[in-house]
Amino acid sequence: KQVALGIDIGGTNTKYGLVNHRGEILSKGKIRTEKFEVVEDFIQELYDNIHPLIQQHCQDKVLEGIGVGAPNANYYNGTIEHAPNLKWKGVVPFAKLMSEKFGYPCKMTNDANAAALGEMMYGAARGMKDFIMVTLGTGVGSGIVCGGNLVYGHDGFAGELGHTIVKPNGRKHWSTGSEGSLEAYASATGIAITARKMRAEFPESLLNRYNEDEINSRTVHVCALEGDPTAIEVFRYTGQKLGEALANFVMFSSPQAILLFGGVIKAGDFILKPTRLHMERNLLPIFRGKVKLVFSELDEADAAILGASALVWENM
Ligand code: BGC
Ligand code: NA
Repeated sequence: KQVALGIDIGGTNTKYGLVNHRGEILSKGKIRTEKFEVVEDFIQELYDNIHPLIQQHCQDKVLEGIGVGAPNANYYNGTIEHAPNLKWKGVVPFAKLMSEKFGYPCKMTNDANAAALGEMMYGAARGMKDFIMVTLGTGVGSGIVCGGNLVYGHDGFAGELGHTIVKPNGRKHWSTGSEGSLEAYASATGIAITARKMRAEFPESLLNRYNEDEINSRTVHVCALEGDPTAIEVFRYTGQKLGEALANFVMFSSPQAILLFGGVIKAGDFILKPTRLHMERNLLPIFRGKVKLVFSELDEADAAILGASALVWENM
């Protein structure tokens, strides 16, 4: 009879669901994160959308609490801190604002950690003790599971794979100013930048039929499916950068699997094959051929909603 509210905040969209103890999503929906400059307005919009669902679904059930996965979330403090891909700057006391608004306790973790938890409890990582969840969306994040536990580190921010450098003096990050981070290449944002550059060099590319603001990983995928070599190269180059970063990551922590999650994975083999190739190529022989590189099994976003909701059951 117990229910938890799971929320997955992304740079572009925020998805939410009411989840029961068995990991079944009773009801879900989404709002646009981008639209809200002020965090209180965002929370109000969440409330307006979710409150009716709570009333509808929780008449004979008990809502135990709220779990949130968000970029740059501090698990210990329930804050979102200096998120490069969110409009709310500084340190945002998100969990506190949420529980004041909704009247339920609220816990938070990093969005990629939430996805890792979801896959571990209900998806492709069931039974795995050492794996890495990599999320490829507006940003790039990761959740590291070692010995069956999420790695949080001293401040709770462990796993910022997206901001590790894959190309010294490389592409400048639009928000952090770092040069050559994985996120600048392998996020949806990075892929769009690569695609705009490459289509300018190849006037015959099918990518040139779109307006500048229509270039994204989905339209690149459409062109790749039509056989456009430039579009295919965009994913190959992205996969190369991702594969190199994953090789480093594998050698740090020796996972049994890496799970890829997020909007970008819709590109399927266009991205998976070069990623695997460049990961394997850069691994020491002791690691080669041993790490499963697979896509998330759960529906888009469900892993993160489920994982976020699972925070509510923690310590219960
Ligand atoms: C943030 C991470 C987050 C990732 C995906 C990155 O920019 O630093 O905390 O997990 O984006 O949203
Ligand atoms: Na993380």
